[in-house]
Amino acid sequence: MDLFSDAGEEKGASDLANDTDRAQQLHQLLHRYAHAYYTLDAPEVPDAEYDRLFRELQALEQKHPSLQTPQSPTQRVGGAVLPEFQTVRHQLPMLSIRTETDNESSGASAFDARVRRELSLSDTAPAIEYVAELKFDGLAMSLRYEKGVLVQAATRGDGESGEDVTHNIRTIGQIPLQISAGASSLPDVLEVRGEVYMRRDDLDALNERQLNKIAEGAKGEKTFVNPRNAAAGAVRQLDSNIAAQRPLSFFAYGLGEVLGWPQQSAPFQTHFDLLQTLKGWGFPVASQTQCVNGAEGLIAFHERIATERDALPYDIDGVVYKVNDLALQDKLGFVTREPRWAVAHKFPAQEELTTVQAIDVQVGRTGKLTPVAKLAPVFVGGVTVTNATLHNEDEARRKDVRVGDTVIVRRAGDVIPEVVGVVMDKRLSGAEIFTMPRICPVCGSAALRDEGEADYRCSGGLFCSAQRKQAFLHFAQRRAVEVDGLGEKLIDQLVDSGVVSTLPDLYKLGLTALVQLDRMAEKSAINILNALEASKKTTLPRFIYGLGIRHVGEATAKEFARHFGTLDAFMNATEEELLQVSDVGPVVAQSVRTFFEQAHHQEIVEQLRACGVTWQEGPPAERAPQPLTGKTVVLTGTLPNLGREEAKAMLEAAGAKVAGSVSQKTSYVVAGSEAGSKLDKALALGVPVLDEAGLLFLLNSAP
Ligand code: IVH
Repeated sequence: MDLFSDAGEEKGASDLANDTDRAQQLHQLLHRYAHAYYTLDAPEVPDAEYDRLFRELQALEQKHPSLQTPQSPTQRVGGAVLPEFQTVRHQLPMLSIRTETDNESSGASAFDARVRRELSLSDTAPAIEYVAELKFDGLAMSLRYEKGVLVQAATRGDGESGEDVTHNIRTIGQIPLQISAGASSLPDVLEVRGEVYMRRDDLDALNERQLNKIAEGAKGEKTFVNPRNAAAGAVRQLDSNIAAQRPLSFFAYGLGEVLGWPQQSAPFQTHFDLLQTLKGWGFPVASQTQCVNGAEGLIAFHERIATERDALPYDIDGVVYKVNDLALQDKLGFVTREPRWAVAHKFPAQEELTTVQAIDVQVGRTGKLTPVAKLAPVFVGGVTVTNATLHNEDEARRKDVRVGDTVIVRRAGDVIPEVVGVVMDKRLSGAEIFTMPRICPVCGSAALRDEGEADYRCSGGLFCSAQRKQAFLHFAQRRAVEVDGLGEKLIDQLVDSGVVSTLPDLYKLGLTALVQLDRMAEKSAINILNALEASKKTTLPRFIYGLGIRHVGEATAKEFARHFGTLDAFMNATEEELLQVSDVGPVVAQSVRTFFEQAHHQEIVEQLRACGVTWQEGPPAERAPQPLTGKTVVLTGTLPNLGREEAKAMLEAAGAKVAGSVSQKTSYVVAGSEAGSKLDKALALGVPVLDEAGLLFLLNSAP
């Protein structure tokens, strides 16, 4: 018996030894794969392989609970639920940086001049070397590693003490639980500081999930107005299971307390080398981070990032400049809790608060009723914004915007301004829910919403003066028949005074009628008449587009003109014949038929011709062969040389469709730097991935 039990014990011991070795191996593998996946955006193995190894480790840990250490990759998943946050006192305070008040390039020069003055440098002394970084719009985090293992993550709090949020931070795949470096190169204690943030596409996906939950009747769920709020909310969850479902990311930008470097001193002398070291240890460092010289270098960086800002997959609110030489940083020191060696140089804000003064309902060219929030003027994203569309009734309800509300307005890049959310705390009591009017606010005709449609439409047609005005504006615009000088104000007057009511009336205008209008001098009136005369010579695509047929945009108008050659052939085409035209589906074909079946539309066309509007006609033309017809391409990340719009235009010119999301049907994904989930998906689905060079090759080599 004794013999047997001895053998059993021995077997148990060797089992544990083997399993410990295997667990160690699995730790290393899983850490490496997670780093490749989350931080490098370059998965080394398929997800299924990762999952298999992960489950193997879980099984080992279940068998030997002693193997389940805090740095185990299995400990990333949510689990811990805390009754409250513990306070963490920062051994080295988490300081903030001074913000340069001057948003222009001169802000960078001012900082450089200040640093030079503090260092008593003469004008002829060489330029100072700086590190220029992005200013991430998330929340500051201090990650404490002891002997290379993550032991604590704390928020900034008031800078002196923050909250212990380790349980949530563990769920962030980009944050190493154990630093991948030999213990011999690591200090005993290392605090890595950086920013926790949420990517915009991750926020969109999260909000979509939240909306589904709300639609399914879940209580207490909400959507998030911006990535920063979503990130802050996730980090401050007591239940890490919830945090684990909110996709967060991290960028390292500095150090906190550090004790006991192996060689008695840090293995770097500059901030840039510090960042490189952190990167080598597995921390994400933004690829834009750059060493630059003097004010000129700072200005160039500021300008470059300003143009790249909107293409980044995450929000930044500016850039940060830091003196590179750590010895110089020491020499410069601090003034009232801010380092003299760093400064934040902001960009104009893309989000601002303002109030809703009214919600107007506008009537579009095709009768569509659009609720528009009239805002107290606010300077955001480089322009003064006074209007923001609420799109339709469902959108307005979803955001629950009410008159009197304080709202967050966002304008990024060339995107039209939008209300991203309401500041509920500031809602006035008695604020009324917005409802769409059931009659057209302009002509009083019934406003109808078709089954399955999001929009209400005025049923008044050209009886509705709003639709008439829009029809004139559409006809006269540059891309259509182009009547120079015939703008909104003039059209308002012409329609309101009853001088014109249909398009041909424009060409019947005389000097006498025009000079009777408000603020219309004879000279301007003559200019308008000349412009009308000049507009008579047009082209068939412009004329078709100018008619304002619903669903017939500029590109479709061109196709119709090419396919039919003459206006009569187009007007008389049956639905079947219309469907022969490339890219024309039943909705467009039906809309064209409905338009020409109305006698007054035919009448308008005839009268316009009678007034002398002409264009060249010809036989139907073949479509030029396009090399990428039928191919769908998705663009993601930032390409080294081509802008996003430029690449899109090149692809479309070659006949490709440019889509926003990756699916089985995607022909190619073109990925630049900072490509994220779309690239992952392409790799998972086996969709070919191209870089910029590959894209150019494709465009040049396709038959
Ligand atoms: S350095 C002592 N670098 O901006 C210097 N901060 O007031 C400590 N931030 O809330 C900060 N990007 O979280 C630094 N590249 C960057 C940053 C950055 C964003 C945030 C930081 C803090 C605020 C600085």
